[in-house]
Amino acid sequence: MIVLGIESSCDETGVALVKNGKQVLANIVASSLKLHSKYGGVIPEIASRMQLESIAGVFSEALKVAGVRPEQIDLVALTVKPGLPGSLLVGISFAKALALSLGKPLLGINHVYSHFYANFLCHDNIKLPSVALVVSGGHTSIFYIKDFSKIQAIGRTQDDACGEAFDKVAKILGAGYPGGPLIEKLAKRGNKDKIRFACSRTENELDFSFSGIKTAVLYYLKNKKINLVLKQDLAASFQESSIDVLIKKSLLACRRKNVKQLLIGGGVVANSRLRRKFLAGAEKLGISCFFPDMDLCMDNAAMVAGLAYQLYKQGARDNLYLNMQSN
Ligand code: KG4
Ligand code: ZN
Repeated sequence: MIVLGIESSCDETGVALVKNGKQVLANIVASSLKLHSKYGGVIPEIASRMQLESIAGVFSEALKVAGVRPEQIDLVALTVKPGLPGSLLVGISFAKALALSLGKPLLGINHVYSHFYANFLCHDNIKLPSVALVVSGGHTSIFYIKDFSKIQAIGRTQDDACGEAFDKVAKILGAGYPGGPLIEKLAKRGNKDKIRFACSRTENELDFSFSGIKTAVLYYLKNKKINLVLKQDLAASFQESSIDVLIKKSLLACRRKNVKQLLIGGGVVANSRLRRKFLAGAEKLGISCFFPDMDLCMDNAAMVAGLAYQLYKQGARDNLYLNMQSN
């Protein structure tokens, strides 16, 4: 079964073709990120305009790369939430028109869930139930996945997402946007033990709070002369504290749910220090830790198509009344 996936929740326009929820035939992503960097964040109006202009071309490119004709598509899957309304609308309108003209079924997908599904595209030995951590620019959540249609959120951020905190700290340091890769680069030369930052405590131990640590960075810099060494130490210390809290809570969730497999997804998983520390921390408890390949960490449509295949097999269906859903 060939599923066409469409992802347009933020600044990317992704179209992918995936066979049987596993084999990625094509995964094309056009990003308008460069256009946003001078504003220090994604400008929704620019993002949706670029998506409108690029989606038909990205679709044609995906068909070409996969060597698939439109009639061979069995299901049209698309992100319906969460995301920027204008951006989601572009993907939804394109998907509906395609499904209608080809006479194919349509299925809306939750972007956050698709992030952990990216692991199933890369690894064969994942068994459910599992615990998943999704750590991106918009979300930081822990899920208990009994089955693809039985996903329970057991922890979530009470304020900023982890990626958002990376972006904000990078902005404070004048490093640029998006902040994650820039903080990681600065951190490589910094002393992670220089400053002790901590994330705020939360009532539910599996919830997160990242806004306090961002403010702590801001206060730490007050009345200080900012030089490169200070930026590097600060980036390393902030990165370390953020990763440590992600690990602590994810492993606690595994213990509470008595599972031995932890899936991690979302843009922040591109961080190599995070990957190394997660592997080491999980190994001590006999937990296997899974990450998607680098190109599947960031927003893409292959993960949307993959999850849609699993849900469609279980009977999930949408129709042309499908619309974007509130976050
Ligand atoms: O999943 P994603 O592509 O988009 C959302 O769904 O939000 O994640 C983007 C986020 C941004 O906040 C970005 O700064 C962060 O992922 N990110 C990183 C790294 N690469 C991207 N954070 C830390 N280290 C990285 N290497
Ligand atoms: Zn995402």
